[in-house]
Amino acid sequence: MDSKAILTYIEDNKQRFLDELFDLLRLPSVSADPKFAGDVRKTAEMVKSRLLDAGCDKAELVETPGHPVVYGEKIIDPNLPTVVVYGHYDVQPADPYELWDSPPFEPVIKEEKIYARGACDDKGQAYMHVKALQAMVDTGSLPCNVKFMIEGEEEVGSSNLETFVKENKEKLAGDVVLISDTGIIAIDTPSITVGLRGLSYMEVEVTGPNRDLHSGIYGGAVANPINVLCTMIDSLTDENGHITIPGFYDKVEELSTTEREQMAKAPFSLEEYKSELGIDEVKGENGFTTNERTGIRPALDVNGIWGGYTGEGAKTVLPSKAYAKISMRLVPNQHSDEISDLFTAHFKAIAPDYVKVKVTAHHGGQPSVVKTDSLAYGAASKAFEEAWGKAPIPTRDGGSIPIVALFKEVLKVDVVLLGFGLDSDAIHSPNEHYGVFNYFKGIETIALFYKHFVELKK
Ligand code: BES
Ligand code: MN
Ligand code: MN
Repeated sequence: MDSKAILTYIEDNKQRFLDELFDLLRLPSVSADPKFAGDVRKTAEMVKSRLLDAGCDKAELVETPGHPVVYGEKIIDPNLPTVVVYGHYDVQPADPYELWDSPPFEPVIKEEKIYARGACDDKGQAYMHVKALQAMVDTGSLPCNVKFMIEGEEEVGSSNLETFVKENKEKLAGDVVLISDTGIIAIDTPSITVGLRGLSYMEVEVTGPNRDLHSGIYGGAVANPINVLCTMIDSLTDENGHITIPGFYDKVEELSTTEREQMAKAPFSLEEYKSELGIDEVKGENGFTTNERTGIRPALDVNGIWGGYTGEGAKTVLPSKAYAKISMRLVPNQHSDEISDLFTAHFKAIAPDYVKVKVTAHHGGQPSVVKTDSLAYGAASKAFEEAWGKAPIPTRDGGSIPIVALFKEVLKVDVVLLGFGLDSDAIHSPNEHYGVFNYFKGIETIALFYKHFVELKK
């Protein structure tokens, strides 16, 4: 591969690469909200045609009971290795819209950053792969085969992709699954994600009296389900930041001192972390650092809580019901379904007699870890070194990509998490953005990954 030709190609096509990404970002492909189903489909169609433009021999929409999967491939020689690219074209809802400085689906560049829902997660990052393919094809330097699987349901749990993968093992056969849907430590500190947390996501409903009551006539004499729910939630973690659900930690993988020392070598400033978030103190499980708390330890968080009166002014009411959505981030060896069951049993057990509780599990996913001694990791490491002038640091990220565990289990290949986002990119939040530098550097790094992977495979 002629790395210089690739660089020149990227340089010469920068504006086009940005314009094309903007077209994708203008489509509100929110998978969670049925109202956007038409836009989700249009996005899939656009990804398909862009794959063909980039040089794929074939691209198609694969229908599922939900949103379609976009599959594309370019097979140059069956005897050569095959890189399988995974990404997602769906995005999180953009709400609350009023907190955006510019509309979420009208991308703009401000201070060298692209602002739009999906700019980083994951349209911007998935599209880097399409442009890397085009750069390699057009400069005559594509060194192997490539298959694309870009799904539209990652943000809602990938359950239909699971079926697609299981039913299409042959079609998806390859030597590595390459994913850009994670981040690096900083622009001057490249890193490769080697761990993702799993997820159990629960919804609870607490019912008190059979109807909303006057809080004067009844207040103090009848249990208020919102008060009760708050007490129950509070009891789920103790004063040491430990989760109190019996059996919760039974399978948690404990890291050795050496492994923890290794992790602690990654540059990190707690002061910058706090100031970026506008907090005076951090809080988490005692005995663990901030990076350990998100990387190797589980967590329990309320994602939403509601009930009673939340409109303008005051209404004196003792509500009949209270609700909450609660997520648990899981670490290696914890099992999502088992943890959901433990939560359900415990939440019911701690419910006082004066309320009734209902617990339902939403989508979940398994944690995953990536080996650093694989050939694929080695290629990714070399690609970073060549493009960024620095060897990448392996990191464990706190987020989840549930399908990664399934790729390893079903397709039996190594996965490489070659992401280029930053924690400060505000993914899932208002004003999500992605660095223009990261976008172009990512395209270059991806092309170099192909080169090193194929060389190491020889
Ligand atoms: N790309 C993220 C996951 C991520 C972000 C991993 C940053 C590591 C670093 C992905 O799109 C995502 O948001 N996943 C969800 C899980 C899903 C089941 C909704 C998550 O982590 O909340
Ligand atoms: Mn993502
Ligand atoms: Mn996401």
